Amino acid sequence: MNGKLLLALPKGRVYDAAINILSRAAIDIDAGAQASRALLFEDTQHRYQFVALKPVDIPVYVESGVIDAGIVGSDILREADSDVNEPLDLRIGKCRLAVAGPDGKQVSYQQNISVATKYPRTASRFFSARNAHVHIVRLEGSVEIAPLLGLADVIVDLVETGRTLRENGMSIIEEVAAVSSKLIVNRTSMKMKAAAVNELITELDRVVYENS
Ligand code: PRP
Repeated sequence: MNGKLLLALPKGRVYDAAINILSRAAIDIDAGAQASRALLFEDTQHRYQFVALKPVDIPVYVESGVIDAGIVGSDILREADSDVNEPLDLRIGKCRLAVAGPDGKQVSYQQNISVATKYPRTASRFFSARNAHVHIVRLEGSVEIAPLLGLADVIVDLVETGRTLRENGMSIIEEVAAVSSKLIVNRTSMKMKAAAVNELITELDRVVYENS
């Protein structure tokens, strides 16, 4: 494009935390740019360009090199299996990926259970590692409803506050993974734009570790 690093920000629940951590690293995006429907925008000092994307699309863009770097959840990275650099855990968007099922229902992994999830690869790997033969039902959202309607026995999904599970009469059976958002960088950008990438990593690294 024009020498500036192009960074992808995740639309949705982690967006505000991503803007906040950038701002603490003195990379400010003004309210007008945030409120705008323009997909491409810059920080107030015109050092970076940003694009807000659906989180699931971010590893695809960064792996291809069309976008230099991005902020994305480890749940999505694990599922995408993309070949990108992961230089920094930003410690935002923290939650858990877990197996959950209806309260009081005994679920044995040995019973050929069906599992509803937005994370079919991650769920397959998790149950394979336990020698459990499961049937994966891939869904795109509101996964908690699947066991209640009889589409699946259990789910593998994100749990943040636990409220969605609680209000649907479900509870965690087992944790699959802790989740947080990572900075990811395209492998070629890491080399060809090393100075700019390292500056970004250093600025964010300082903020992530300043209170710990
Ligand atoms: C996520 C996740 C759970 C819920 C967990 O869904 O898939 O449904 O949030 O959060 P909680 O533990 O704080 O209740 P999201 O709101 O992203 O929408 P979706 O169900 O359409 O994926």
